[in-house]
Amino acid sequence: MDNLSVEDRTFPPSAEFAAQANLGEEAYQRAADDPEAFWAEQARHLNWATPFTQVLDWSEKPHARWFADGTLNVAENCVDRHVRDGYGDTVAFHFEGEPGDSRSVTYADLLVEVSRAANALTSLGVQAGDRVAIYLPMIPEAIVAMLACARLGAAHSVIFGGFSAEALRSRIGDAQARLVITSDGQFRRGRAVSLKAAVDEAVAAPDSPVEHVLVVRRTGIDVAWTDKDVWWHELVDTQSDRHEAQPFPAEQPLFILYTSGTTGKPKGILHTSGGYLTQAAYTHRVVFDHKPGQDVYWCTADIGWVTGHSYIVYGPLANRVTQVIYEGTPNTPHEGRHWEIVDKYEVSIYYTAPTLIRTFMKWGAEIPERYDLSSLRVLGSVGEPINPEAWMWYRQTIGHDRCPIVDTWWQTETGAIMISPLPGVTATKPGSAMRPLPGISAVVVNDEGVPVGDGEGGYLVVDKPWPAMLRTIWGDDERYVDTYWSRFAAQGYYFAGDGAKYDTDGALWLLGRVDDVMNISGHRISTTEVESALVAHPSVAEAAVVGASDPMTGQGIVAFVILRGAAVQAAEDAAERDGDDGSAAKALIDELRAHVAKQIGPIARPRQIMVVAELPKTRSGKIMRRLLRDVAENRELGDVTTLQDSAVMNMITSGLGGGS
Ligand code: WT7
Repeated sequence: MDNLSVEDRTFPPSAEFAAQANLGEEAYQRAADDPEAFWAEQARHLNWATPFTQVLDWSEKPHARWFADGTLNVAENCVDRHVRDGYGDTVAFHFEGEPGDSRSVTYADLLVEVSRAANALTSLGVQAGDRVAIYLPMIPEAIVAMLACARLGAAHSVIFGGFSAEALRSRIGDAQARLVITSDGQFRRGRAVSLKAAVDEAVAAPDSPVEHVLVVRRTGIDVAWTDKDVWWHELVDTQSDRHEAQPFPAEQPLFILYTSGTTGKPKGILHTSGGYLTQAAYTHRVVFDHKPGQDVYWCTADIGWVTGHSYIVYGPLANRVTQVIYEGTPNTPHEGRHWEIVDKYEVSIYYTAPTLIRTFMKWGAEIPERYDLSSLRVLGSVGEPINPEAWMWYRQTIGHDRCPIVDTWWQTETGAIMISPLPGVTATKPGSAMRPLPGISAVVVNDEGVPVGDGEGGYLVVDKPWPAMLRTIWGDDERYVDTYWSRFAAQGYYFAGDGAKYDTDGALWLLGRVDDVMNISGHRISTTEVESALVAHPSVAEAAVVGASDPMTGQGIVAFVILRGAAVQAAEDAAERDGDDGSAAKALIDELRAHVAKQIGPIARPRQIMVVAELPKTRSGKIMRRLLRDVAENRELGDVTTLQDSAVMNMITSGLGGGS
């Protein structure tokens, strides 16, 4: 029934790696015996202006307060203290622009830039407790802007540069942001495209809370100008480069980040300062085995997502990282761009998403093979379950069978990594996130909240509070309690919304969102499992599976697949040879259905497989199964505004080739 649990390949860390690891096996027991003492120890890696005396206050659960009587300044922890400790000349980041411009920023440079920006924001009226919206591409100013807000105790709300004016307007309105920081435009696939125009539209209404718009000149394209607008280079660059950082309470709001829920309205996830920074820094240190002064780290996320917040800005900078920041798309100007950058900066830790790994697979192993990747020593994955084939490809083709892979499970809500192998401790299995980190406790339960047996699927819950946990949903505390804490209120568990299971070796497998779990004739089958089986077939590059309602079986499995280049070619050749009667495509689809049946069991044989050229994805790269379900059930299409490319849906609905 279940191909994931039969995975028996394991990859223990090398003795050499284990010998120098940042955290050892003993930490699990120590953290379980006394979680508060463990987290206090992690928190003491930070610089506290007033040391905390209380670790956790859970008296008003589900509202946690961590290190509440301590005070600190988050930006001071990420910048000033490194300069003070004598690392001003250490490069904080190597910025690589899409058009090929590059710039290295040291911690001393960063301190100057953040101080000037903090002074500039103050001159625009920003005060502690305010909200500032940031709508910027992946350029150094984005990080400077976030740190300047943190320095002033103002919460930022970063909105991904791919979101529309309407999405921007509603998020600005929800948070009542008084300032927006944006740029004239951004470089995307070799072109300069506007960003500010969307801001103009979003703040035009007379009731907009926005007083000022601070504009970075990135592309030089023409922009409309209003009396709210101020150029970054005119205001920020002329400020004093000295700014005294004030400490704030540990529970000072640090940022709001909007994420989609099951209803239409996005949720403003609120994170605070001391606990968040503690866990972001701890996890970055132990999961990636980060060694300051030795490693060059690269997380390929955008700061518009939580991965960018926790693993580009806060965790890494608190740990005095030297990292790479890349502005552009992975195939501009060519498909080897990432490996060229790894080669150029001798990147040693690389953290990316399975969807990109599968894209690299599709482009072919010969591309990374052209570059020197010998600097790499740890590879990370995040965002969705990684199928064993992509995991193995990542390990072999990118990691040369040498680098441990850390598959990291977490969410916008959890703020930081929760479940992941430790690279010097854990023997990994392809496709498993393995184990909750020391200090974290996760359980798999059934509908009644009772833990299920090993090998059985259930709901993933977190049964103890953790420092980086969301504090609430901005402006809607009821929704916070309802969404995350009502499902297992009796037990007091945090409901993550993911299906999971522990296998008989105690390894944890994430099975996708529970909203994506299908029920076929009373059998529970994860969309992820079927996708994993499909992409294990040599002809398939990518697959998305949905459960479509079925009068006979409750739900039927409908798969959308993108074929690999060679498979497409073979089908075309066959069509040319035999006349285009569709028989080649049909034969392949039959083969794929049989393949899934063989991999998982006959119950998992897809009812229908559609061959498509692309899959609809959100701007963060997640497949929009809801839309695919609409197609599979012949319904009118739902809202496509968060799609990366809404033309994809037109392609799919107009060319529904290959139905079986
Ligand atoms: C959802 C959270 C975490 C930062 C990026 C996504 C899925 C995330 C994994 C993983 C399996 C994963 C879960 C989770 N997810 N990482 N390693 N293995 N699933 O943040 O947008 O808040 O999404 O992403 O379904 O609930 P997000």
